[in-house]
Amino acid sequence: MLYSEKVLDHFSNPRNVGEIEDADAVGEVGNAKCGDIMKMYLKIDGDTITDVKFKTFGCGAAIATSSIATEMIKGKKISEALKLSNKAVIEALDGLPPAKIHCSVLAEQAVKAALSDYYRKQGIDPTPIVGEI
Ligand code: FES
Ligand code: FES
Repeated sequence: MLYSEKVLDHFSNPRNVGEIEDADAVGEVGNAKCGDIMKMYLKIDGDTITDVKFKTFGCGAAIATSSIATEMIKGKKISEALKLSNKAVIEALDGLPPAKIHCSVLAEQAVKAALSDYYRKQGIDPTPIVGEI
């Protein structure tokens, strides 16, 4: 089987799909090679991510990785969400085929792009905190 049960589950029944109209932060990333685009919306209260939604125009693995990434950061502190790595996303999905690893990178980057937006909106340079995306 190319895809794990978890990938198939998150692809066919993605969690937290949609937009947050009054989001505190929005991040959008894309992969130039495959053309897939991922958009992540966050609600943040203090230093806690209280809500997350995503929209992904992309492959099944991109949808599954964004879906599980939203679950992994919802209710967490910003500092914990910043530690979300694509490796953790892959592990949470019980693996991804090699050609689909970059989809998990996109999920990590979408979270980081949204958090960068959050800092930027407060006049804080995100690069030292979030790193290069
Ligand atoms: Fe993303 Fe085929 S490359 S859908
Ligand atoms: Fe490019 Fe999945 S094929 S994000």
